[in-house]
Amino acid sequence: MISERVQELLTEIENSTVSTKEQLEAFRMRYISRKGVVTELFDQLKTIPQEDRRAVGQELNTLKNAAQDRFQLFSTQLEEQSDNGAASQVDLTLPAVPNQYGSIHPLTIVRRRIIEIFERMGFNVSDGPEIETDWYNFSALNFPDNHPAREMQDTFFVEKSAGEVKDDVLLRTHTSNVQIRLMEHKKPPLRSIMPGRVFRNEAISARAHCVFHQVEGLYVDKNVSFKDLKDTLYHFAKEMFGQDSKIRLRPSYFPFTEPSAEIDVTCFICKGKGCNVCKYSGWVEIAGSGMVDPQVLANCGIDPEEYTGFAFGMGIERITMLRYGIKDLRLFTENDVRFLRQFEGA
Ligand code: DAH
Repeated sequence: MISERVQELLTEIENSTVSTKEQLEAFRMRYISRKGVVTELFDQLKTIPQEDRRAVGQELNTLKNAAQDRFQLFSTQLEEQSDNGAASQVDLTLPAVPNQYGSIHPLTIVRRRIIEIFERMGFNVSDGPEIETDWYNFSALNFPDNHPAREMQDTFFVEKSAGEVKDDVLLRTHTSNVQIRLMEHKKPPLRSIMPGRVFRNEAISARAHCVFHQVEGLYVDKNVSFKDLKDTLYHFAKEMFGQDSKIRLRPSYFPFTEPSAEIDVTCFICKGKGCNVCKYSGWVEIAGSGMVDPQVLANCGIDPEEYTGFAFGMGIERITMLRYGIKDLRLFTENDVRFLRQFEGA
């Protein structure tokens, strides 16, 4: 009885076909699931005489394996079919969905360009802390105790504990702190530029921000002269703003340099004729600079009798605004994509 039924089912399984997921599930229900026909036959095994059981059991196992093999085959066939189906639905003539690429921030573009120009002249890049002590930000740089830059309106001081201001820990107001750290830790010759963030307690407007970026430059060696400073910054101006640029030096004052000079470059918008960027003067200011004050060298353990040096500092925002004709500092931090997209590929 059972043997005949097994033969019948084997033929049935062999002849069956499946072309949809639903048919595959029906196949599984009929031959493989615990409520299926094969399980039912296994249940009947106990009703047949002991001596026949072994042989019939083997037949049932053959049936069970046949059902499982067939099921396996059908599932793989169906999977392959649906993969091919998906592929055939791709319309290669449709326009592609464009990738959204980000663009490099203008301040990054300009910072990288400044670094590149100075690296080619043999400067390396140094870094220093943004949270600084009074010594590195002011005292070592020769700021007298009563210098107005130390006062609360310019400097952010760091709280020691809630409400208790510790006036010798502060957010650096310029990158000149890195000069001191460098000279303290390394012996001349030193030729380095130091880009970084600086902080000043100023109300945010189109022309001022409480966080901005500077690049500091320092060259200390035997026989470094004011002419080296002039030549270096002249070369920088030509590389940055165009080969026909000229520079001019105006006497100035910084506590850490003597003599000091403000560096102007010919306005590259109007080529010196006069426009609203250069306020009709033909010149725009790009950096502060000077010969490192002997006292500053001595503060860092460098013998001012043996070594001389020059230093300069420039604002990255300022150079970027000049280069791209940007009129409002706040655009740099607002993250408005309409602004940022304009620098794609720059
Ligand atoms: N630290 C100055 C500032 O923040 C900029 C500066 C001027 C840096 C002259 C220098 C320098 O190294 O020599 O305004």
